Amino acid sequence: MGTIDKKVYAIWSPKGGIGKTFITSHLAKWASTKGLLTGVIDFNRQAPSTAAALNIRLPREKSLKEALYTERESDVITNFHNNEKDKDLFCTGLNVNNDVDDLFEVTDHQIIKLLEIAKSKFNILLLDLPTSYLELTSYESWKYADKIVVVIDNDYNTIVALKSYIKFLKEVNIPLNNLIVVINKDMGLLSGQEVEEMCGLPVSVTIPFYKQIVKDMNEGKTVFETGGSFKDRKIIQGIQKLYGLLTSNGDKARSESKSLFKIGKLIGNKKVVKEVKTNE
Ligand SMILES: Nc1ncnc2c1ncn2[C@@H]1O[C@H](COP(=O)(O)OP(=O)(O)O)[C@@H](O)[C@H]1O
Ligand SMILES: [Mg+2]
Repeated sequence: MGTIDKKVYAIWSPKGGIGKTFITSHLAKWASTKGLLTGVIDFNRQAPSTAAALNIRLPREKSLKEALYTERESDVITNFHNNEKDKDLFCTGLNVNNDVDDLFEVTDHQIIKLLEIAKSKFNILLLDLPTSYLELTSYESWKYADKIVVVIDNDYNTIVALKSYIKFLKEVNIPLNNLIVVINKDMGLLSGQEVEEMCGLPVSVTIPFYKQIVKDMNEGKTVFETGGSFKDRKIIQGIQKLYGLLTSNGDKARSESKSLFKIGKLIGNKKVVKEVKTNE
């Protein structure tokens, strides 16, 4: 019997707009529903949207930028936020006050320090990564994550891009069996088998395209909250299957006492920071 603790999963894709944020937020929602204290870092510089997808408001001056540019553990944690409804689900990312270049000069040391601290606080930490390999946040997260979810769609160009990324991943010694390939927005144009033949990696999960989902997400709902239609259920099944693959051997979600205890710890840290700040 195992429990999920201090596990880090990166969600990445070789092209933008395929569904990294979509999958990250659904996984996060599912993990927290299972009783895991869940952290999400949105490393996207151009269009951070994971907090919004999770209905979490990032307050001014309390964002990923502040979390990265501090040495103090307690200051890192105060830059994660949740909402009233999902008390076990915390997210950080850049907010409207940050410039897109605020993460440009970040160092590998700062990224790893943030990952270390976040990992030690959460049962499960999800990293919503930028596509480009030029982003240090992606590069460090690939190395750091226990597994990498590679999100692709049915587009031939995505598969071609993935093939060149695979070369790069090999060069930087990322074990290819850490990758879990997911086809999202599946419209049946390329089968899982065709994708496998083209890129040489097995496709583990296929999630259908469903345009109602955009409306649901815009209303701050996830498929777990709506879930009415057949396609919703197909998406839910895909997310659950992916979650199972990520957490296999340890899906005995930790329950009641644990999450309250951990939340107490997080909130406890916030208090400490407040006290320290008032004393300064
Ligand atoms: N399976 C799906 N069916 C329909 N729309 C989807 C699906 N997955 C993602 N989307 C929508 O596609 C858009 C891009 O997804 P997003 O997760 O923001 O991509 P990324 O983070 O990779 O840039 C969003 O509007 C999202 O709601
Ligand atoms: Mg995104």
